[in-house]
Amino acid sequence: MLSREATSIISPIGLSKSSSSPEEENSVLEIWGRSPLAGDVKISGAKNSALVVMAGALLCSQDCRIRNIPLLVDVARMSEVLLALGVKLHHQADILKIDSSQLSCSKAPYDLVSKLRASFFVIGPLLARLGVARVPLPGGCAIGARPVELHVRGLQAMGADVQIDHGTVHAYVRGSRGKLQGARIYLDYPSVGATETLMMAATLAEGETIIENAAQEPEVVDLARFCRAMGSRIRGAGTNTITISGVSSLHATDFAIIPDRIEAGTFLVAGALTHSEISLSPVIPDHLTPVIAKLREAGSKVIMEAPNRLRIVPGQAILATDIQTRPYPGFPTDMQAQFMALMTLSEGNSLITETVFENRLRHVAEFNRMGADIRLQGNYALVRGVPNLSGAPVVATDLRASAALVLAGLAAEGKTILQGLHHLDRGYEQLELKLQQLGARLQRISRECNDSENQPDSDPAVFTPTQVTHKFK
Ligand code: UD1
Repeated sequence: MLSREATSIISPIGLSKSSSSPEEENSVLEIWGRSPLAGDVKISGAKNSALVVMAGALLCSQDCRIRNIPLLVDVARMSEVLLALGVKLHHQADILKIDSSQLSCSKAPYDLVSKLRASFFVIGPLLARLGVARVPLPGGCAIGARPVELHVRGLQAMGADVQIDHGTVHAYVRGSRGKLQGARIYLDYPSVGATETLMMAATLAEGETIIENAAQEPEVVDLARFCRAMGSRIRGAGTNTITISGVSSLHATDFAIIPDRIEAGTFLVAGALTHSEISLSPVIPDHLTPVIAKLREAGSKVIMEAPNRLRIVPGQAILATDIQTRPYPGFPTDMQAQFMALMTLSEGNSLITETVFENRLRHVAEFNRMGADIRLQGNYALVRGVPNLSGAPVVATDLRASAALVLAGLAAEGKTILQGLHHLDRGYEQLELKLQQLGARLQRISRECNDSENQPDSDPAVFTPTQVTHKFK
């Protein structure tokens, strides 16, 4: 967890740490289950929107002021990528000012791109603005191989010469003007990243670009909103066909990121799983339609208390519910692990099918360590609901799995000890503090000082608020 207070006096955000320190690698989260939660929680800005909007700011040679930036390790890493490209940043509280007027470098450093897959998305703006981009292939990650051929083919359709050499994508636009050309591009799969890369590339291209079978995720729509605020001409974002009419330059803007629908969904599941009533705001309920539908099917009520405020009211029992992850507006893959945590305690059997990423069910083994009964076959997980989970030492296998294991720990009997907190810190702003404020009993401790697995299992009566903060360079 990054400390907002600490960061507020540091500028730019790129000076904040970008990788887990040995202290954090050694930290674990102790979670004592079965405490009822209650109250209100504030939802932060959307990670995936913030990351791509930061990349999009490279398109503009004037200042962009981005509000509602979540304080996350991934955001700090993207800041480092921008700094390496010659961009100036100024960060205060949740506002990030990005000055790309001196954008000079077309090469993103491998050590930064390899730590943050989303930083590959700078390829589109770099190519549009400078006519040349050299960006290392990001490689696979914990949830799958994650190739980028859809990004590359789309850029080629727009006239870029692309070669992949020694693990780096070298792209340039021929001709003295160095301008990409509008094109009609059909994506074989509605990839979020490819849609965003190509939309950004097309904003400064000559002529019209049409992206067919485009991703419709709210973060794609947010990026389009940001580009339009800078003067881009984009229509159709949020549908499967996006049309971009290129313009010659963009102008300064002041823009606020949407609330994080995945963080909101995670707290909704926390309420359903711990039989607690929780209110969340700000949220955009429409962005949560598939998650809300499945929570209702699982027996909870989700009430819209205000246009930007939801309340989860759990049912008597958790009902078995099947889910299949799909591109938006289908059920989000980023909520699959959390929903599986809920199904472990359901009455009956549920089938969870992961269709978006090929390796995103590694948390199954961790849930089973806590007493869940889940069988895995390929991309299917058959969850047989059990009456109780029991706290256990578990390891976070990826970002969303880490949050799902926290939720399972909150519902389990006894103590859960979660390792692999660097995953959690990538994408959840102050998760522990927010849960503590709802009444959860959990705290981060350093393993070096406190070998918690060998400590007695006594249930501490008092929890101090989480004190661990990231150090800043
Ligand atoms: C984004 C989100 C991530 C979310 C995912 C799906 C960010 C920073 N991350 O990731 O949290 O889980 O959308 O909603 O926004 N694919 C290819 N070739 C390509 C591109 C993608 O085969 O060129 C495949 C991927 O391997 C994956 C699937 O398409 O199996 C979906 O990937 P994509 O939609 O591109 O996800 P990301 O943009 O990487």
